[in-house]
Amino acid sequence: MHTLLLVDDDDDVLATLTRSFRKGYKTLSASGGQAAIDILNSQTVDLIICDQRMPNVGGVEVLMHALTVQPQAIRILLTGYTDVDSLLSCVNDAHIYKYVTKPWMPDDLNFTVIRALESLDLQRQLDEARIQLEIAYKETVVMLCLAAEGKDQDTASHLHRVQHYTTALAMAVDVNEKEAIHMGLMSMLHDIGKLATPDAILKKPDKLTDEEWLVMREHPLAGARILGENPFYEMAREISAGHHENFDGTGYPNQLKGEDIPLAARIVKLADVFDALTTKRPYKEPWTMQAALDLIDSQAGTSFDPKIVTEFKNLFANGTLAKIKETYN
Ligand SMILES: [Fe+2]
Ligand SMILES: [Fe+2]
Repeated sequence: MHTLLLVDDDDDVLATLTRSFRKGYKTLSASGGQAAIDILNSQTVDLIICDQRMPNVGGVEVLMHALTVQPQAIRILLTGYTDVDSLLSCVNDAHIYKYVTKPWMPDDLNFTVIRALESLDLQRQLDEARIQLEIAYKETVVMLCLAAEGKDQDTASHLHRVQHYTTALAMAVDVNEKEAIHMGLMSMLHDIGKLATPDAILKKPDKLTDEEWLVMREHPLAGARILGENPFYEMAREISAGHHENFDGTGYPNQLKGEDIPLAARIVKLADVFDALTTKRPYKEPWTMQAALDLIDSQAGTSFDPKIVTEFKNLFANGTLAKIKETYN
């Protein structure tokens, strides 16, 4: 059942309002602005019908307060005056759903309330569906990564470190936070194409032959294929396809150059190489962060985007990299 907050300093009006919404709703009534604010601070309401002109605390103030503390609640203004200026400020500042002039036709107000609550319910359903979808797509990423785990030397902790280096680096190059977090999540899929690489090649202890290298180098495009066509995974496809491209155009599979390589791929490439260098692998001991940065720095402009290298060095200097490494060890 929806909860309506009815606000009017005129007792008769308040009684009329309460009577007309007695059936089918839970009603709360306030005989003044301050009383309405007190209710808004302590109880959740779905819709507010508020008188404009009240002593001390007026309707605009009440509805602006509602916008702050319960923005999802629908705001309807009751006005007995044709005071255009204050009406305008109410529409603009309190984002009201509708204003109704006094005296009102009961059916009109009823209908307005029904319509408003329908749109509120629809919005809530949409929000819920969006949250579920978001959870589902995040879980899919983790599922895919779990499926690929053990296929390569890449472990869950490698993927998490790459994820967080990527997010930090993306924010450092001015990608907005939401997009940066998404990029981090998608970075976990950078080597998903290795699912298609035969174990005999992936796990071969000796040097790969030229032919085996050719097969190995298929994993970026194999990954992009595995990731399908859904727009949700667009960035993951860019990362998979582009994380072995070199800034100077000497990488694979497409020999893309400079900013033709998608930003996400340029970022993840650096995060991935840095993590591979600074962690123990079956064939090598971990390098120090400084040694890894020196190598990366020496390849700024050849393997890596020099601007991203600069930002990465800043993340090292301010301790962000060390913190991530420590957290996801
Ligand atoms: Fe790779
Ligand atoms: Fe990796």
